[in-house]
Amino acid sequence: MKLKIGHKGKFIVVCSQKGGIVKSQSSAEIAFGLRRAGYSTLELDMDWTTGLTERAFPEGLPLAIEREPMSNTFTPGEANVYQLFFPETKINPVELPGKRFIIGATSELNEINYRNSDCMFDFRDRINQLKELFDFIIADSAPSYSNVMVGAHMAADYLLIPTLLEKQSRNAVGKQLAYMQKIKRNYNPGLQFMGTYVTQTQVKNYKKPLKEGYLGPIDTLNFNLLIEILQEKGYSEEFILAYISYVPAAAKEAIELGLSFYEYDPSCLPAIQYNDMTQKIIQIAGGQ
Ligand SMILES: Nc1ncnc2c1ncn2[C@@H]1O[C@H](COP(=O)(O)OP(=O)(O)O)[C@@H](O)[C@H]1O
Ligand SMILES: [Mg+2]
Repeated sequence: MKLKIGHKGKFIVVCSQKGGIVKSQSSAEIAFGLRRAGYSTLELDMDWTTGLTERAFPEGLPLAIEREPMSNTFTPGEANVYQLFFPETKINPVELPGKRFIIGATSELNEINYRNSDCMFDFRDRINQLKELFDFIIADSAPSYSNVMVGAHMAADYLLIPTLLEKQSRNAVGKQLAYMQKIKRNYNPGLQFMGTYVTQTQVKNYKKPLKEGYLGPIDTLNFNLLIEILQEKGYSEEFILAYISYVPAAAKEAIELGLSFYEYDPSCLPAIQYNDMTQKIIQIAGGQ
């Protein structure tokens, strides 16, 4: 493990108020990029729809995530995010090939949302311990305002918001920033907006500049509206960190094979774009 960014790791929460905006896959891509750059990285699945976990374990969950899958009661293992919401539970991430460390989730994570809100503070303390062990922790966060989502923001150093350019996702960026500012004010003054990125960019002409025909006419308009939303919250368009090209066939195939875009084809556009964004993330977080 080589700590390049100080003795404490950085916790990045990936969150949007809108579902289906490539939150899980981009979380995994970013974590992959950080590992490839030599940073020890832990992935946390904090969305009880468990997209990140299911993709990491296509053959079924290990017992470290669910100890007794056939039992009538829920038996979370040492690599279940559920455990992080309690003070003295045993935590031990699963290690997958390529030094991929992950603490997964099952749908029962949603039960945390019915518990006393103290559990959010317990979560923050547990994350502070894990920050001693990893350079980066990347959380694929639940979208709805809940104990699990607020807990993630309370523990986080940075917020990343993936988005599409259409209206609902765009507006969700504004909503997420409003929630972030509220949580920052009430619980976590150190929390910073790292940026947003467009996850399925339908490019019309790669040679043209962004505002002059790179996207089709409707998306150029949508893109300008996204910039307005950022500006209303006090952020410039510099906070749009990446445009990931829409490549449906490659994306599906990579998922089927359980590969990141880079492993699938290092020369494909999303591989290059995620890599560039990861470099920016490292820079913003203060790494080398
Ligand atoms: N660059 C891309 N181009 C086309 N489709 C993509 C791309 N990246 C991801 N996808 C597709 O988007 C789908 C949703 O991604 P996912 O990460 O599960 O979203 P969320 O976690 O926000 O619900 C994936 O099943 C994948 O097929
Ligand atoms: Mg998901």
